Amino acid sequence: MFIVFEGGEGSGKSTQVKLLYEYLKANGYKVIVTREPGGTKIGEQLRTILLQGKIDKMNTITEALIFLAARSDNWEKIIKPALKNNTIVICDRFQDSTLAYQGICNNISIDLLNDICSTITNNTVPDRTYLIDIDPVIGLRRSMRHCNKDVRFENKSIEYHKRVREAYLQIANNNDRYLIIDGTTTIEKVNNIITQDINNRLLKR
Ligand code: TYD
Repeated sequence: MFIVFEGGEGSGKSTQVKLLYEYLKANGYKVIVTREPGGTKIGEQLRTILLQGKIDKMNTITEALIFLAARSDNWEKIIKPALKNNTIVICDRFQDSTLAYQGICNNISIDLLNDICSTITNNTVPDRTYLIDIDPVIGLRRSMRHCNKDVRFENKSIEYHKRVREAYLQIANNNDRYLIIDGTTTIEKVNNIITQDINNRLLKR
């Protein structure tokens, strides 16, 4: 099973990734967590290039290609082998981040991005994607509280983050793979929704 979390800045995604990981592990499942950009040594190096420094330090196509390069390394070294080994994979961001940020918001061809990504993953799509939806005004306020150097994207304008939110909703609406969850409720409530949903899905298999 391949589970992905998506959402804007400060949505609480990473907390939920951790909670789901702990829940599945405690229930005896083989499970790993990875993140994008990142997950491997090369991926983490590319993450630093992407998330640190000035907003305009590279153009949008360079940026998109680096995100995809990081995905390719994470796919080959972490995700693909784990899925083959019947391990549940939880990934903090994946292809739909690229479609929302680089495709819809930065106007890079969606067909091009989909082509490259399906080449990387041999057309694999996640079994379930949780979109933690939050007003970026609230999300950015939350994420700025964490002392972190990876703020290149957080420093983009509020208009950009509003477009990201709309892009995600556009991708998620009418897509059975998605569950959209209100990110403004408590950590426990969001976690309960997710564990209930996962239990329904795991038991069905
Ligand atoms: P991250 O620390 O994962 O975000 P957060 O913790 O706020 O959820 O930072 C990743 C940033 O990179 C985030 O702003 C979204 C962006 N991103 C893309 O633009 N395209 C991509 O394909 C991915 C994976 C991330």
